[in-house]
Amino acid sequence: MGQCPGCGAWSTLGEERVSAIAAGGRGGKGGGAGAAAGRAAAARVVPLRDVLTARVPRLTTGIGELDRVLGGGIVPGSLVLLGGSPGIGKSTLTNMAMGHLAAAGRATLYVSGEESAQQIRLRAERLESSACRALDVPVVAETDLEAVLATMEALKPDVMVVDSVQTLHAAELGGAPGSVGQVREVAARIMQVAKAASVAVILVGHVTKEGSLAGPRVLEHLVDCVLQFEGERERTYRTLRALKNRFGSTNEAGVFEMRSDGLVEVLDASARFVGEATRKPGSVVLASMEGTRPLLVEVQALVSPSELVPPRRVVNGIDRNRLALVLAVLGRHAGIGCGTADVFVNVVGGVRIDEPGADLAVALAVASAQKGIPLGGEGAQLPVAAFGEVGLTGELRSVGHAERRLSEAAKFGLHDVIHPAGAPTLPQALRAGFAGAPGGAARAA
Ligand code: TYD
Ligand code: MG
Repeated sequence: MGQCPGCGAWSTLGEERVSAIAAGGRGGKGGGAGAAAGRAAAARVVPLRDVLTARVPRLTTGIGELDRVLGGGIVPGSLVLLGGSPGIGKSTLTNMAMGHLAAAGRATLYVSGEESAQQIRLRAERLESSACRALDVPVVAETDLEAVLATMEALKPDVMVVDSVQTLHAAELGGAPGSVGQVREVAARIMQVAKAASVAVILVGHVTKEGSLAGPRVLEHLVDCVLQFEGERERTYRTLRALKNRFGSTNEAGVFEMRSDGLVEVLDASARFVGEATRKPGSVVLASMEGTRPLLVEVQALVSPSELVPPRRVVNGIDRNRLALVLAVLGRHAGIGCGTADVFVNVVGGVRIDEPGADLAVALAVASAQKGIPLGGEGAQLPVAAFGEVGLTGELRSVGHAERRLSEAAKFGLHDVIHPAGAPTLPQALRAGFAGAPGGAARAA
């Protein structure tokens, strides 16, 4: 079939062979009377208290932000999937991590199915420093799965990178490299060998702009950790998030900047983003949380008359559907309609915000852009900050970590913060935002 009868997509079906063992040896399920005779003996169960655990130290990658997102470094023998769109910096990040591990005396291996050894060397030259011996990392440019597995068994590295899982090819299975069946087979075989040889593996996977990938997503259940590297290629800032983590929290996020000599961790992210914030109509600072860390970012909106039907709704860094919701609530409950105008919303710096706490900042930015009036009191120098979720009835809902958001804003001198504790509804928040009287009820500090 050329078209999937399930989702309607074309050319997505992959071949999967049923192996002989599955058919014969374990086929007791529907076997009727004969099945009982061949059934295996009951497995021995152990109370959790008596299960022996070995406390193996984690492998630190030397990249603080990466270690934090992983939950404190790479767990030996674990399988990590690193997803992201092409050009985002997955190879750079993994090259650097391997270089740091090599400098720390760990055995590493870099398998590339995408680039030649020469290309990898050119990149490594840029990344080489005293702490990162990127040029010491053994590389192999190979796309044949059997060859990769054999190399892995022979070298038994502590950590291995496969860049990317879509380029490896299992010869005995049909289908092009990168097809669902191939990707699943490649990952499963690598996992088998990796667990047996206790090799930690980072599988790199390409994700398309829409987030769909004929590959890596099917691996999410298999791997221990799923990391997503996001941002925009043309921008300098990138965020690394854990979508799944068997050894840590999925709330952590790391912020990086792409420079000419590789990725640099951004530890003072708020300062970078707020330093550039303007006090113009359509601008507001969002006091957001990136995992357990507060992060201030500027949200900008532009409302512009349009001839287009329907008018444009363009977002960058927030969810389109959240904007639709915010616009609907602004229209219904606050009398601010953008019906026939184009609305653009942008989170400055290329950061992606994925939390409901962004709603209020978006609403204020759009309202300010629509009115052409800056938020905050007359003569105020610094921008207004905000956070809170907008409910469908126009109420504002509190979001987690209000204290930490407020103190982060205060750290940068932003004392004009509009949030649900001070303004329980959107109309109240708007009044506070445009009242121009510093020290109003909705203001913190
Ligand atoms: P890359 O890691 O190859 O992306 P991916 O593996 O995710 O496809 O790098 C992406 C871009 O980063 C590439 O266009 C060049 C740029 N870059 C820098 O700006 N500085 C650097 O030090 C390196 C190594 C790459
Ligand atoms: Mg790459």
